[in-house]
Amino acid sequence: MPGLITMDDLSNEEIMSILDDAERLLPVAEGRTYLPLLQGKILGNLFFEPSTRTRMSFETAMKRLGGDVVNLGDVKTSSVVKGETLYDTIQMVDGYTDIIAMRHPRQGAAQYAQDAARVPILNGGDGAGHHPTQTMLDLFTIRQAHGTLEGLKVILAGDLRYGRTVHSLSHALTRFGCELIFASPELLKMPTEIVNDLTKHGANVTETEELLGSIADADVVYMTRIQKERFADEDEYTKVAGAYKLHASNLEGAKENMIIMHPLPRVDEIHPSVDGTRHARYFQQAFNGVVARMALLCRLLGIKVPEVIADGGEA
Ligand code: NCD
Repeated sequence: MPGLITMDDLSNEEIMSILDDAERLLPVAEGRTYLPLLQGKILGNLFFEPSTRTRMSFETAMKRLGGDVVNLGDVKTSSVVKGETLYDTIQMVDGYTDIIAMRHPRQGAAQYAQDAARVPILNGGDGAGHHPTQTMLDLFTIRQAHGTLEGLKVILAGDLRYGRTVHSLSHALTRFGCELIFASPELLKMPTEIVNDLTKHGANVTETEELLGSIADADVVYMTRIQKERFADEDEYTKVAGAYKLHASNLEGAKENMIIMHPLPRVDEIHPSVDGTRHARYFQQAFNGVVARMALLCRLLGIKVPEVIADGGEA
């Protein structure tokens, strides 16, 4: 069964319909209504790289919908340390579960796993490649704030070279006709093959090293962490570490409804002074991971989300 490896696996219509499902699932994610749509289903969580939000929100999504989760757990205590190949691990977990969420340091690993598995694979990040389930929650958050995905002006800032979240997100936003501003140090520019692909899809992209100058007319500012773990050379990292730091005082000229997003974890890209402003949306965004992943799990498992879900009131 096909899973979700890159945003190419979903059409714009499918994206919108999954976001609609996610919206209706809000009372379930908030614990006000119990709706065991995934009772009897098991998700396999295979995280070969650190993860807090992606792993936990998949687990929360599954459990809120009455399903269950088995975890690979810490790679260091699994058979991976005995030399088990990814192919063998997938073959086995495939038999234990109905669907697999996977994160792996190697670009292309999710596709490799999908080729080896019968159950759908949800790519929770493959090296510096893609992170489509993050994109679904990012799109949900943007639509929640602006009521649309069409024609917005979005700044993507920070590590555009190694940041898989912005690789998947820029692709999706281009397909919805957004204007993109890529703000990064020269060393961390969006890879040429991605820019070329976006151009093929009719992208409207500006590249700059300067972040603050574009904030005034942006609808979304999407900050990212410099992906230290992907640098081969520590000195290179030191050169770009701390390249962008957003402080509340930088937001004075911003549009009222501009939102600041971040996939988290943040290091020093967003000063805590921003947290209390009307623009900060990153913690809401992290919560939205639960509804977006609920909707994705249902879709890929072939379970229809009801058109009307009663809100059970206070949990
Ligand atoms: C991101 C990732 O793993 O790519 N985190 C996440 O899934 N929320 C971003 C990051 O690690 O910087």
